[in-house]
Amino acid sequence: MNSNAQKAAHVTTRRLLDMKQNGEKISVLTAYDYTMARILDRAGVDVILVGDSASNVFSGHNTTLPITIEEMIYHAKAVVRGVQAETSRAMVVIDMPFMSYQLSGEEALRNAGKIMKEHECDAVKLEGGRVIAETIKRITDVGIPVMGHLGLMPQSIYKYGSYKVRAREEREAEQLLEDARIVEEAGAFAVVLEKIPTDLAAEVTSSLTIPTIGIGAGVECDGQVLVINDILGLNREFHPRFVRRYADLNTIIENAARQYVQDVRERSFPSSEESY
Ligand code: KIV
Repeated sequence: MNSNAQKAAHVTTRRLLDMKQNGEKISVLTAYDYTMARILDRAGVDVILVGDSASNVFSGHNTTLPITIEEMIYHAKAVVRGVQAETSRAMVVIDMPFMSYQLSGEEALRNAGKIMKEHECDAVKLEGGRVIAETIKRITDVGIPVMGHLGLMPQSIYKYGSYKVRAREEREAEQLLEDARIVEEAGAFAVVLEKIPTDLAAEVTSSLTIPTIGIGAGVECDGQVLVINDILGLNREFHPRFVRRYADLNTIIENAARQYVQDVRERSFPSSEESY
């Protein structure tokens, strides 16, 4: 543990439920590595999501589909170590990657168990509503907490054909509301609502007892989640409306690297103070 870090009360599923009941908003950010997890835990983020967005922002794929369960476990282990090295407060949730839970309930359970057993994370996240309700039930029944994910589900991007806002039409909105109830009924402890209208997210939030975590779903959700690379401005090209950029690390890192290159070329680095 970092010598300055004081262990804090670890965020649990019970704590998230209490936060909803008390009207306290839940903050969620993604992380994929040890160093970032340490910083986020120190900053007081409630939940760190090891998102399969690692497939995009870490590995450079166009979608979340290619990332494997072994790769997710690799990221998850690093993140858990980071949180443990700091205050150990943040809950760590791991995305189950595409095709690790869709084939059968048995395989989903085996993979969820594998993710939970290989490191001390707190929960897994699955995309889908009624179609995976049985799977959610099966996983939660053995004691593994599940976070749901509705609205825009990036693992289904080839079915949608675009990353546009979901459930603007009444029929899809009604289905989503029902899916949310089904996911809660199946045993999920929280549900991510991605890119849906604010009014619909508000309706889902007031209809459920479990917390809703929005991304591009308005302020009425019980919590918010964003991808860490997006809020840090690491990707210059990607700036959708729902992302708030808190820093421009792309420029800061590029400038730092340029300065380093120049210093090496000019032999101003290392100085005598930086040498032995
Ligand atoms: O993979 C991810 O990062 C996610 C969040 C954007 C919710 O699922």
